[in-house]
Amino acid sequence: MNTLSPAAALAAIGAVRQHFTARLVAGREAPAIAAELENVLALLDTVDFSHADEKHLRASGHPVIRQLQQAHVRGGGASTEAVFGAFLPHLDALPWRYSYEPRPDAPDIGARMAWAELVGPIAPFHSSKVCLGLTAIGPRLLYPQHYHPAVETYLVVSGTASWTADGSTRRHPPGALILHPSNIVHAMEAGDEPLLAAYAWTGDVETLSAYI
Ligand SMILES: [Fe+2]
Repeated sequence: MNTLSPAAALAAIGAVRQHFTARLVAGREAPAIAAELENVLALLDTVDFSHADEKHLRASGHPVIRQLQQAHVRGGGASTEAVFGAFLPHLDALPWRYSYEPRPDAPDIGARMAWAELVGPIAPFHSSKVCLGLTAIGPRLLYPQHYHPAVETYLVVSGTASWTADGSTRRHPPGALILHPSNIVHAMEAGDEPLLAAYAWTGDVETLSAYI
């Protein structure tokens, strides 16, 4: 079983921070997204990155890794290349998890999607104010409607999926930033290619997401 090195985790976190900073500097984001990127970056500045919790660096061996590898997941263009490149060599070493209750209409969902958190309450680098991680959704899987009090920002790293929030659906390609305000109901559905997206949570990051 692989173990994620603190250096690899820091490189992946650093790539996301650099990407968010570059997006802010470019100045083309909607005001709400820009404000949340600033919030995320400021909160990440408060995290103690000098110490990694070893037990959260252990790889979990989730089946979604095989699905990503079988799908020959590819990067999504220059805007996300550095983020993709920082995560890709370590897909099988990330601490993947899936923590929803089972649902009868999607009995295999827990084997086809997962997330790996690098900063947060249950993560190698501890924070109770901000989370940073990677979500993976296998090909043609619907991540059903869910909600959580945390404000959520996604950066699509690979895969163009259908994103639904507040009843409105759009396809977002790699490089897209998607903001989910607190408690908005949202869902994602991967196409033929898996979806990989980096995410950040702020606000109440302790309360888990729930299906509706
Ligand atoms: Fe969410």
